[in-house]
Amino acid sequence: MGITGGIAAYKAVAVVRGFVLLGHEVQVVATEHALRFVGKPTLEAISRNIVHTDLYESVAEVRHVALGQNADLIVIAPATANSLAKLAAGLADDLLGNTVLASRAPVVVAPAMHTEMWDNPATVANMATISSRGVSVVGPASGQLTGSDSGLGRMAEPEDIVAFALRVHAASSAVSASSADLAGRKILITAGGTREPLDPVRFLGNRSSGKQGVALAVAAKSRGATVTLIAAHLEVPAPDGIAVINVGSAAEMLAAVESAQPHSDVLIMAAAVADFRPASVSESKIKKDSTGPSLTLELVANPDILVAAAQSARPGQVVIGFAAETADTEEALLTLGRAKMMRKGCDYLVLNRVGWSEGFATDGNTISVLDRAGHRVLDAEGSKLSVAHEILNLLS
Ligand code: CTP
Repeated sequence: MGITGGIAAYKAVAVVRGFVLLGHEVQVVATEHALRFVGKPTLEAISRNIVHTDLYESVAEVRHVALGQNADLIVIAPATANSLAKLAAGLADDLLGNTVLASRAPVVVAPAMHTEMWDNPATVANMATISSRGVSVVGPASGQLTGSDSGLGRMAEPEDIVAFALRVHAASSAVSASSADLAGRKILITAGGTREPLDPVRFLGNRSSGKQGVALAVAAKSRGATVTLIAAHLEVPAPDGIAVINVGSAAEMLAAVESAQPHSDVLIMAAAVADFRPASVSESKIKKDSTGPSLTLELVANPDILVAAAQSARPGQVVIGFAAETADTEEALLTLGRAKMMRKGCDYLVLNRVGWSEGFATDGNTISVLDRAGHRVLDAEGSKLSVAHEILNLLS
C-alpha cells in the first residue's frame, strides 16, 4: 500500500485497516510528504508491520526491490497529482517509485486532488498514460474537498477502494492462471466510432474513443490470440503486433467485417456504428448562404453490421455485440439489453451505461453480459483492460 502526500492520507489508515481485517498482509510504503499528514505509529499499529519510507534504510535487504517483488497487488491511496505524474514518467526517486517499478503486480491508484488539478491537461495526459499501461483507477469521487470548495477530486471511500482493489487482484489472478488460453484463436475486433460524411469537411459522429475495443485487442493478444482490429477513428493508439484495418464510415466497416469475418473464430463488435447516414453527400462544402437560416438533413438507415454478422456466422463462430444504453437503473439497462439481444441475435451482448460522463472516453468501465437467452452471465467493473479480460474469459 503506497501512501502519498495529500490530506486524504488520513483516510488511507481506513484502507489499510480494511485489508488487514480481511486477512491480508499489508506493507505500507509512505512518502515523506504522506507522513506529514498521518503518523507512522498509527500506520504501524494498523498495518501490524513496520512502515517503509526511506530508500536508504536496510539497503542490505535490497528493500526497494524486495517490497515490489513480493507484492501481489499495489494500491496507492491517496495518489496525488504529483505521484501520478511520477508514475507516468516511471520515476524511481523514492522508495514508492522503486517499489512500483520493481513489481509485476497489478497497480490500483485512488487519485485525490482539487478539481482544477484533476482537470489539468497534464494530469489528464498522465492518467491516460498510466491507464494505457494497465493501471486501474478507482475514483475520484465528487464531493466536499479540503477547503470550502467541492467538486470532482475527492478520494474514493476506503471501503470502495478495498473492494475495487480486491476485484482487480481477482481478475488478474484469473488471467495469469490462463495466460495463453486463447492461443490459436483468431479474434476480429471493431473499435472506435464511425463517421458519416456530410460534405468534404463535415461528418456525423459519436463520442466513442475506441478505448474498450483497443483494450480487448491488447488483452486478446496477451493471451495468445491472433488479433485483427477494424479501427474507426481511434483516440488511442492501436497496439503493436496486431493487424489493423482503418475504416471511416459504417459502410466501410461493414465491408471490412464481411471480408475478415470468414477467417475469424470470434467477432467482437465494440465499435459505435452510426445507425444513420446523410442521404446524400455534398461534393463541395455546404455553404451557409445556400442553406438559409435553417438546414434540414435527410438521413437514411445504415445496415446493421452486428445483425448481418450474427446471421452469417458459421457454426462455432462466436459473435459478441455491445449495447450502449442511457438507462437510469440496472433493471432498465437489463430490460433494454434483453430487447436488443432479441434484435441482434448474437451469442453475447455486453451492456454498458453511457451518458454525458459515463462510458465514453473514460478509463474504467462497468458492464453486464447477457447470453443468447438473455441470462446475465457476467458482471465486471474496473479498468477497461481488466473488463476486457473478463469478457475474454467467456471464450476460454
Ligand atoms: N451495430 C452495428 N451496426 C449498426 C449499429 C450498431 O453493428 N448499424 C452494433 C454495435 O457495434 C454494437 C451493437 O450493434 O455492437 C449495438 O449498438 P448500439 O448503438 O447500442 O445499438 P443500436 O443497434 O444502434 O440500437 P439503438 O441505437 O436503438 O440503441
